[in-house]
Amino acid sequence: MQWKRRHCCSYTASLFYLLSFLGVLLFLVQPRLTGMPWSRHHPVVYKGGELGTSKAKLNISTKTSGWRLVISPQSTVANISTHEKEGAPSPHGEPNVENTLSVSEEGEHRGNITPGPYTYFINEPDKCTESRSSPFLVLLITTEARQVEARNAIRQTWANESVAPTLGLIRLFLLGRNNGELGLLQQKTLEAESHRYHDIIQQDFRDTYNNLTIKTLMGLNWVAIYCPQASYVMKTDSDMFVNTEYLIYKLLRPEMKPKTNFFTGNNMRNFSPNRNKNSKWYMPPELYPGERYPTFCSGTGYVFSGDLATNIYRKSLSIPRLHLEDVYVGICLAKLGIEPAPPSNAFLFNHWRVSYSSCKYSHLITSHGFHPNEILKYWNHLQSTKNNACFNRSRGRTGRIHRNKHNKENEAH
Ligand SMILES: *[C@@H]1O[C@H](CO)[C@@H](O)[C@H](O)[C@H]1NC(C)=O
Ligand SMILES: *[C@@H]1O[C@H](CO)[C@@H](O)[C@H](O)[C@H]1NC(C)=O
Ligand SMILES: *[C@@H]1O[C@H](CO)[C@@H](O)[C@H](O)[C@H]1NC(C)=O
Ligand SMILES: *[C@@H]1O[C@H](CO)[C@@H](O)[C@H](O)[C@H]1NC(C)=O
Ligand SMILES: *[C@@H]1O[C@H](CO)[C@@H](O)[C@H](O)[C@H]1NC(C)=O
Repeated sequence: MQWKRRHCCSYTASLFYLLSFLGVLLFLVQPRLTGMPWSRHHPVVYKGGELGTSKAKLNISTKTSGWRLVISPQSTVANISTHEKEGAPSPHGEPNVENTLSVSEEGEHRGNITPGPYTYFINEPDKCTESRSSPFLVLLITTEARQVEARNAIRQTWANESVAPTLGLIRLFLLGRNNGELGLLQQKTLEAESHRYHDIIQQDFRDTYNNLTIKTLMGLNWVAIYCPQASYVMKTDSDMFVNTEYLIYKLLRPEMKPKTNFFTGNNMRNFSPNRNKNSKWYMPPELYPGERYPTFCSGTGYVFSGDLATNIYRKSLSIPRLHLEDVYVGICLAKLGIEPAPPSNAFLFNHWRVSYSSCKYSHLITSHGFHPNEILKYWNHLQSTKNNACFNRSRGRTGRIHRNKHNKENEAH
């Protein structure tokens, strides 16, 4: 789920300016509010039963202001291959016969994946094959037509191909369509944008929050059909800060053999379906009767090996759609017998906003809830402090990090 509002109001210029102004205000005030205003978007809303092991994590996460630099060995992530055996899905997937619900309807024939029930309005079928070798990372970024500024900021920053020039980085914005006059107008702009950057894919479904699952499946469908040889895929949002360099060079490690059946992100373990009808994350018992969701990764940013795009998409054809995109992907994974790998430390994938410092941001992968201007500002600052991101913040800071680490260890005992 995206912990943010997707509703929009009327798009008058004045509103836009008002919002920009508020954004600036918020930004100015932000340091003092750190760790508070964003907690409203926190998945505590999921609570519907005791949270078991995730309790500790939640408590840590609400203390974002007390972010601590704890870097543990990468081995947990490297070791996911042990999970492969559990579910033993055949990598190239025999067509799944046990569950034929909606299979033919979706045009699934003997293992060939077709564009699916919604046709592509805008597509980039050759984007992947154009690159010299198979791309290392495909970034699938959900966005809406009106978020032009965010797309431009992302193009210049964390999803700029020059982040990994030799490896092959593909950036794709995922969109549905909007109705009405405004929709037509936006479509024109979008097509021009697509013509210029060739980084947009769009299918014929209504672009609403509750269709986010369809949007994500479009991204998986694209990888499955046009780029199955990609080593890794990340699905994220347009209000995210993503440290793609850290993701690529520290987590995914291009020098290693690409993993398979690998899925990681901010793991949501033992969450119960929200049964409060007024909640944005309400899950009707008819749709999901179970008391717990399988482990899923927050939709604000998850990363998986390229083979899973095909496997998850294929599996989705036999699982009725749920509107909660990240829960739904988690269910597909569970059916595939794949357990998301816990990240090597709890601060890599943040679905809340981590207050900016070059030191923190040089050691995380996602942080959530940014205005496009902030993305530009923080990214550029991070680039400029590349070789001394933590050192620069002087002895005081370094000392604090150490002390905090000790505190944490003491607490744990
Ligand atoms: C967080 O920890 C406090 C005590 O430190 C506890 O009272 C509270 O229930 C915890 N919150 C969650 C969500 O686990
Ligand atoms: C992976 O796990 C196995 C046992 O489950 C262990 O023997 C091996 O050392 C681990 N490898 C890494 C890289 O942690
Ligand atoms: C990506 O970065 C390069 C080098 O910094 C820059 O020249 C280029 O304009 C950027 N691309 C976009 C789309 O902004
Ligand atoms: C999702 O898109 C489909 C196809 O355009 C549309 O029929 C449906 O109403 C949309 N659902 C929601 C919840 O917006
Ligand atoms: C970082 O350190 C360099 C050299 O020590 C210094 O010139 C620069 O002003 C520092 N930047 C910040 C933001 O502290």
